[in-house]
Amino acid sequence: MSQKVEVNTTPNTQITATPTKKELTTAKSQYSDFQVVTKISESSYAVYLAFSKQNKKCYALKVFPYRDNRISNGFINETRFSWLSHPHIISFLDIVPEKKTFQQGKYFKTSYILMELAPYGDFLGLLNPDRLPYDDKLARTYFHQLLDAIEYLHTNGVVHMDLKLENLLIGENFELKVTDFNLSCAEDEIEYCTEGTVNYRAPEILEGKCKDLKAADIYSAGVILFCLKSHLYPYLENPAPNETDFFKLLKNKDKSFWELHPKAQEDPKFFDKDFKDLFLSMVEKCPKKRATLKDIKRSKWYRGPIYSHDELVAIMKKYVQPKSFLKAVNQQH
Ligand SMILES: Nc1ncnc2c1ncn2[C@@H]1O[C@H](COP(=O)(O)OP(=O)(O)OP(=O)(O)O)[C@@H](O)[C@H]1O
Ligand SMILES: [Mg+2]
Repeated sequence: MSQKVEVNTTPNTQITATPTKKELTTAKSQYSDFQVVTKISESSYAVYLAFSKQNKKCYALKVFPYRDNRISNGFINETRFSWLSHPHIISFLDIVPEKKTFQQGKYFKTSYILMELAPYGDFLGLLNPDRLPYDDKLARTYFHQLLDAIEYLHTNGVVHMDLKLENLLIGENFELKVTDFNLSCAEDEIEYCTEGTVNYRAPEILEGKCKDLKAADIYSAGVILFCLKSHLYPYLENPAPNETDFFKLLKNKDKSFWELHPKAQEDPKFFDKDFKDLFLSMVEKCPKKRATLKDIKRSKWYRGPIYSHDELVAIMKKYVQPKSFLKAVNQQH
């Protein structure tokens, strides 16, 4: 991938214990009368567009096939966080641990989660191809929404651990919605820590030495901040041969990181001091020295102007159309 962003229920204060299979299978489904319309995405788990015949609304359905006749760990992990409730976190409407489906002459067991639908897709799709204007106020508005979601999670002892553009969706009113809690855990569950996601992971995750999971989320949010402003990744962990290694420049606090960055080459004033200070404080190599949520909120760039709800909707309507998968619903109904 090039440097271009390919772009290439009442919350408990504590994390609920992992539900047992018995608890999960006794949960009653309230949204059983829906039709699966089309596939939205197939990454680790397939996500489908579902249409409710009862209320004529669309939802997203994330499907977890059974493995060796057992509920998948992905489903168990993601449903641990079903109690989360925040305007900037995708809400779960139904959790079904066991559903038999008949396909090609065989019965299959799957689990699924029915979620609110994000009709405008994810932020990766928004920034690549470049659909949005370069507008600090817009980038800051969405960054505030992301920080609100992270603050809610961290205050409730949850760490996301996979913050990336693909996991930030755009809701019905153009609000940012964090999704995909597959790698999430409690802040003290260091043993759950994975290798993280390339280009977004904190250096201590890459080195397998992470001790502060909240600080690791802040690092990923720093990478996202850069993407929101510049529509480019700050660096690629593995740049193509002969390409500048921005990761190394950043790690070595080399000033040429800013001079050589494609966006700064186009416009040397693109990255202002307040932005640089905030970004660098969030991607600080040493987790102990890294900015905390409080530090971020006190920073000059963060305290700049943001759009009101109505202004945000008016701007986004100009640039963003509902995803084409919604056409399938109109064609069928
Ligand atoms: N509620 C939703 N509304 C609209 N699109 C969605 C929704 N949930 C997921 N998607 C789309 O499906 C993609 C994959 O979803 P999700 O991240 O939950 O699955 P995943 O298999 O865990 O992904 P990965 O392993 O790649 O992180 C998202 O990046 C987004 O484009
Ligand atoms: Mg994902």
